[in-house]
Amino acid sequence: SEKPTALIMIFGATGDLAKRKLFPSLYRLYKRGKLSERYAVIGVARRELTNDAFQESVRSSVQDAIKDHDGLDEFISHFYYHSHDVTDSSSYLALKTMANQLDENYHLEGNRIFYLAMAPEFFGTIAEHLKSDGLTDVAGFKRLVIEKPFGRSLASAKVLNDQLRQAFSEDEVYRIDHYLGKEMVQNIEVIRFANAIFEPLWNNRYISNIQVTSSEVLGVEERGRYYEKSGALRDMVQNHMLQMVALLAMEPPIRLNTDEIRAEKVKVFRAMKPLEGDAVKENFVRGQYGRGLVNNEEVKGYREEPMVDAESNTETYVAGKLTIDNFRWAGVPFYIRTGKKMAAKSTKIVIQFKDIPMNLYYQTEKTLNPNLLVIHIQPEEGITLYLNAQKTGEHMDATPVKLNFSNNCIDHMNTPEAYERLLYDCMRGDATNFAHWDEVALSWSFVDKISEIWEGTKADNFPNYEANTMGPKEADELLERDGFFWWPVDHPQYK
Ligand code: BG6
Repeated sequence: SEKPTALIMIFGATGDLAKRKLFPSLYRLYKRGKLSERYAVIGVARRELTNDAFQESVRSSVQDAIKDHDGLDEFISHFYYHSHDVTDSSSYLALKTMANQLDENYHLEGNRIFYLAMAPEFFGTIAEHLKSDGLTDVAGFKRLVIEKPFGRSLASAKVLNDQLRQAFSEDEVYRIDHYLGKEMVQNIEVIRFANAIFEPLWNNRYISNIQVTSSEVLGVEERGRYYEKSGALRDMVQNHMLQMVALLAMEPPIRLNTDEIRAEKVKVFRAMKPLEGDAVKENFVRGQYGRGLVNNEEVKGYREEPMVDAESNTETYVAGKLTIDNFRWAGVPFYIRTGKKMAAKSTKIVIQFKDIPMNLYYQTEKTLNPNLLVIHIQPEEGITLYLNAQKTGEHMDATPVKLNFSNNCIDHMNTPEAYERLLYDCMRGDATNFAHWDEVALSWSFVDKISEIWEGTKADNFPNYEANTMGPKEADELLERDGFFWWPVDHPQYK
């Protein structure tokens, strides 16, 4: 396999993301033999730290995440630290000296990855300095990796993008959406385009609706300050939820390369019917969790969480109906829902097929169950196809059965984590599973219409769902109006 060579500079190296995700992911790549010996990492952060102390912090974050520590000493010997002032040129010049030296020592071919794992307000400043102080002036490739949030509206995203683009071209910007690194999100494409039996049915003639759920058990925890300004719409819908919809709805790309796939996704965003005025209310439901019982103990409501306004208008839950106005999908609702403090941690996609023309199994009172294809993204990874078959011993009666494929069973322990894949993709220069600016811009313009209305009107029914439930009743009504219901994330009938 390819073993890319690069100098990786992680800005925000003492932060949570670096410790929880980036260092363990790099270590896993190293263990799998995906990193060449020619790599070096510079941790960049404000704090004063020696190289040794930094290496020790990398060591402990790897040890916290991974059991097998073989080769850890060798791995961390490639880590260096630079104490940084993001606004000061002389600090960038010192960083450049260090980078050039490592480039030479490790024969890194002048390849550089700048990973910004820190507060977004500095992204622009950093990008400008990287250029003006000559850090991007390299013989090899230069790539910028950035974490969300990518702005909080189209306007602010555009300002940020323009700043980044002064130093990096679109091809060099890798905007992380970690859902695109998940095994089963990547599998959507394979399920659709590698099977003759699904693609012919994948349209408004045979599919009645599609449901995408991403529910979380955790509340906002320590992130109240960020979350108050974000809310579930910006935090989950603008990026992860709409990205999954795009993968489900896109046309087959003519080739599986970055440009072709992104172009097809962009078309989905363009076909998404914008919601104006009353349409927001009709198609989108906001929720906020109140107190509830978890294991018979009362847990706090959102408004009681640290750093949260006691009368907060911020939504911790969103359910919505999307209309994709194109030939393939006209008339097929895409329902999405996501929220905090819900009854299950689960991300699932349910594709519900239309009913057969007539039910011959009239002996039962029941109607036949529709066929469902369920893609389990997490925590379990797999695919389930729900069919009807003869009820054992009872001719003329049908019963639902399921065909189950579980990814976890075959190689759970080896499934690379989202960040591991995305880091590796970036090192190899594969931007397919990163969000292109056009996708980001279009998804913001869709979401902006909703947030403008939500921010302009106080939700008078907040909190409107209890912690440890599946959300407010308005979200159920959204589907009932169309004659559907949310398929339970853990389907009792098939358990
Ligand atoms: C992040 C959001 O992007 O995704 C978090 O900022 C959320 O609020 C998280 O908890 C969910 O990710 P995952 O991988 O746990 O589903």
